Amino acid sequence: MVILITGGAGFIGSHLSEQLLQQGHQVVCIDNLDEYIYCSALKRENLSTLAQYDNFMFIKGDIRDKAALQQLLVDYQCELVIHLAAYAGVRPSVMEPEKFFEINVNGTLAVLEAMRKAGVRRMIMASSSSVYGNSTARQFKETDAADQPISPYAASKRAAELVAYSYHSLHQFDVTCLRLFTVFGPRQRPEMAIRKFIERIQAEQPIDVYGDGQSIRNYTYISDVVNAFLKAMDKPTGFDVYNIAGPTTTSLLETIEVIEKQVGKQSQRTYKPEQAGDMRQTAADISKAQQELGYFPQVEFEEGISRVIDWMMRESSKQLPIGTYVSGRASSTCHKAQ
Ligand SMILES: NC(=O)c1ccc[n+]([C@@H]2O[C@H](COP(=O)([O-])OP(=O)(O)OC[C@H]3O[C@@H](n4cnc5c(N)ncnc54)[C@H](O)[C@@H]3O)[C@@H](O)[C@H]2O)c1
Repeated sequence: MVILITGGAGFIGSHLSEQLLQQGHQVVCIDNLDEYIYCSALKRENLSTLAQYDNFMFIKGDIRDKAALQQLLVDYQCELVIHLAAYAGVRPSVMEPEKFFEINVNGTLAVLEAMRKAGVRRMIMASSSSVYGNSTARQFKETDAADQPISPYAASKRAAELVAYSYHSLHQFDVTCLRLFTVFGPRQRPEMAIRKFIERIQAEQPIDVYGDGQSIRNYTYISDVVNAFLKAMDKPTGFDVYNIAGPTTTSLLETIEVIEKQVGKQSQRTYKPEQAGDMRQTAADISKAQQELGYFPQVEFEEGISRVIDWMMRESSKQLPIGTYVSGRASSTCHKAQ
């Protein structure tokens, strides 16, 4: 199958592209190698892995350029769009909400419109657990109301789902929205907590702990997420949303303890107030994805952390840029974290 992936140079997109290429699909990746969330050198590194495949094509471009996107879809005779391009991250979205709506909502609309004009009507898109807001449900279900997002990022991801629904309703698009619960693994975005904790604990530098450490995350290892997208490709037509999450939930303090144990060093913790826009807990009911997609997460949290640490060790020995993150913006030059 010929598949167009938006945001394919990023964390999730590069892993998914690699799997699709190995399965023999033709992957056309569009990514503008944006510098806002984190630096493009890391994305170029991701692309260098994909460039080894003959069935991979990279186009540096912006998803908001509808005409170019439409041309790509026609030229390559794409049958499916996997839409991952977005600004991801709660905290920077609180600081600069317009940017998040511009890419995540208007950008999604541009992709859908280009697809309509090109006659491509099948999309799988990355949504987010953040759409559930501060729901007090023990586990979030797809049937729960998702109408009280607590950050602009969350609102933009929910809005993107709704825009996609309107294309299903009006233009008979088949759309599958995967609500991903905090994804982690090799090539993870450098500003994400797990990666920062590993880097800093390893380097014996203090870590910031927001709130009392009791917040809960249903972490999902990257290979399980990739698997969910592959399963969604076989799904029959229509519009649907699915929770995609790992096997267990972990508190912030447990997360730090697992990393301390595996790195073999104690953390120096600086406790700070809870951050605006952060959810208290994310916990998924994945029974719908199990029953309808055959999605069963395989990688336990501890095992995933061990794989991330191994990867980070290998990367640091290669002297590659690890990246840095300053107040919602990637620094202009990537540097290796000490
Ligand atoms: N990582 C997670 O924990 C997580 C959780 C839930 C949902 N998601 C969603 O999954 C998707 C991928 O997330 P990720 O963690 O891989 O992030 P990422 O930042 O690594 O990847 C996103 C990619 O999109 C590209 N991009 C941004 N704006 C673009 C534009 N205008 N045109 C073309 N490309 C553009 C970026 O350059 C980047 O390579 C996003 O939609 C995100 O909202 C991620």
